[in-house]
Amino acid sequence: MSIQVSQVKGDVVELIFNPRKEDLRVGETLRIQERDSGEGLVVQVVAFRMVTYPSLIQEQLELVIGNAPPLSRELLTYLSEAQETLQEYDTSEARNLKIAIAKIRKLTGRRWDQWDGWIPIRDVEVTRVSDQELFENCIDDLGNPLHLGQTLRGEPFFIEGHYLEKVNVITGVKGAGKSYLSKVVLLELINAGAPCVVFDLNKEYIHLPKQDLDPHTGEVRAKGIVHLKAGENLKLGVRQFGLSPLVTMLTRFGLPDVSAMYFENRMARLLQEAWHMERQGRTPPFIGIQHLIDMAEELEFSQNEGVSAAIRSRPLQAEYDKVRNGGALVIDISSLTNLSRQGFVQAIIDIIREICERELQRGTGCFPFVFFEEAHLYISHNTIGYIVTRSRHLGITCFFVTNMIGGLDETVLRQVDNLFLLYLPFDDDVRHISKSAMVDQETMGAFVKRLRRHHALILGDVTRQYPVIVKIKELKGIHTAGETQYFFKPKRRRTPQDHTTVPELVIPQVLQYNVPEMEHNGVPPDQPSLPLSAPSQPTPEEQLLLARLQARWPDIVTGLREKSAFLGSVLIASNPVKLQDQVLSITFTAGDAFHRDMLEEPEYRALVEKELSTVLQQPVTIVCQMMA
Ligand SMILES: Nc1ncnc2c1ncn2[C@@H]1O[C@H](COP(=O)(O)OP(=O)(O)OP(=O)(O)O)[C@@H](O)[C@H]1O
Ligand SMILES: [Mg+2]
Repeated sequence: MSIQVSQVKGDVVELIFNPRKEDLRVGETLRIQERDSGEGLVVQVVAFRMVTYPSLIQEQLELVIGNAPPLSRELLTYLSEAQETLQEYDTSEARNLKIAIAKIRKLTGRRWDQWDGWIPIRDVEVTRVSDQELFENCIDDLGNPLHLGQTLRGEPFFIEGHYLEKVNVITGVKGAGKSYLSKVVLLELINAGAPCVVFDLNKEYIHLPKQDLDPHTGEVRAKGIVHLKAGENLKLGVRQFGLSPLVTMLTRFGLPDVSAMYFENRMARLLQEAWHMERQGRTPPFIGIQHLIDMAEELEFSQNEGVSAAIRSRPLQAEYDKVRNGGALVIDISSLTNLSRQGFVQAIIDIIREICERELQRGTGCFPFVFFEEAHLYISHNTIGYIVTRSRHLGITCFFVTNMIGGLDETVLRQVDNLFLLYLPFDDDVRHISKSAMVDQETMGAFVKRLRRHHALILGDVTRQYPVIVKIKELKGIHTAGETQYFFKPKRRRTPQDHTTVPELVIPQVLQYNVPEMEHNGVPPDQPSLPLSAPSQPTPEEQLLLARLQARWPDIVTGLREKSAFLGSVLIASNPVKLQDQVLSITFTAGDAFHRDMLEEPEYRALVEKELSTVLQQPVTIVCQMMA
């Protein structure tokens, strides 16, 4: 393997490599091993940088001569001229050297060991750590594998269910794939026979495969979800709910004050009776609730049908029993008002606590896995704190799915067992999430800011605290979308802004999009539904524009090189091949995967898109591909 150690500073190793020969990625794990002693280090790539011959030689010389002043300008000029001569012989090799910055993680050995500061001093060899070795050292298998996706090198990636218990956080920016990952985990849990509860705020989970239950025997024919709709087929009993929250909620639903007082008095007496009976060791008859239901049915409290309906209860415990051997109660809380949602979820959490206690008492151990989707919108800091601190005792496992990372207290973050992080470009978020102290902030930032679409950084008990980047699997054939309602239905494809002529590059006539032909009555025949399907071929105007862009490509690259020398060198290997719907596809040859990766870095991508948008006088998104 042609990777050389350039230097070691603290826990950072700099490695020089040729990206044409080695396709290194951020997150990749390498071994640096002394040839003679066999001792070595496990390091993980966190970033890359460009290296030119002169700068490399200067760095190396400085290393040798310590703090001596930098090399003179004349010498550097000489070296760069020498490099140019060299390039005439072998352009690609000379410009292609890169430096990978890697963090030292472990000492190698039969089992990886905690790094104690040792660094290799003799001749070393740098090799890749196989996924197999990574799994053996970081991923346990106690017989409960949950399949989440694949590693950077395409190996199937599993986590051990046991280590998923108790506190998990799934976070990332809006649209990064948090809910999708939650669904992947949920479906794996269901499959593995775990009982789950999901608080579904956006009707995102209700279309997952449904449980198929034999109505006569109650036998589960197919595992899946049970859709419970708050206020419809899921209503809470008064005792479960707690009298005070119930009265508040009922008043909000329209129960007149006088009725509320009357209701509260009567209920308080009934609950008191039930409580006394319990204290005497007697089982309180269900009459208390039944009474209430009868009263509600007779519309004693109010003429309001909604209020009466809210009082009728259907025990959640019974629903839970349906999913005890694998399944999910998806509690659809979308139709509740913000106020009632908080009370409702709070009450359900209380029932879940009772369910856990029942499981504990019976020794059956079917503890729930609870997903709080968009947790910040309906559970308070206190409740999150309560769940987190009590979860170990109760047996409950929770997943907080949120993009409001700031809403998670530091105390909570410190108790998190596993973090599932999706793309997270903001420093503030990275700083906050680093308080979990799972890994240093530098690594966290380096990884989560560069995560590609559908990739997640997983770390915690499931990876023995080793940061692992995983491509989350696709849920083929499963409806995962939520129910977003739109007023404006798309009637045609995106229309570009009006463009006339640009200085150097002549833009063909405004790129016309096919507007669906109107029927005689003025109604478009077929309203396309989201997502829009892309047209199969670029228009002639787009093809013409592409040809002109290709002709000017070397100049554009030179222009960009002035803004960033590194970006310029990345783009030398690129070739614009297709322009369609304001999306420009840029290809790289097979040996230039590194360049493609670099161009996908947000800051470089933004620079290129900005420049191209100016040149083409229209917003352009770039897509980087490898040439087949
Ligand atoms: N692993 C994946 N494979 C295929 N599609 C995915 C994957 N992950 C996410 N997606 C798609 O990306 C889009 C955004 O995902 P998702 O809704 O899960 O994001 P989110 O982070 O929950 O967003 P929000 O903050 O709006 O809730 C969805 O259309 C989803 O289908
Ligand atoms: Mg979501």
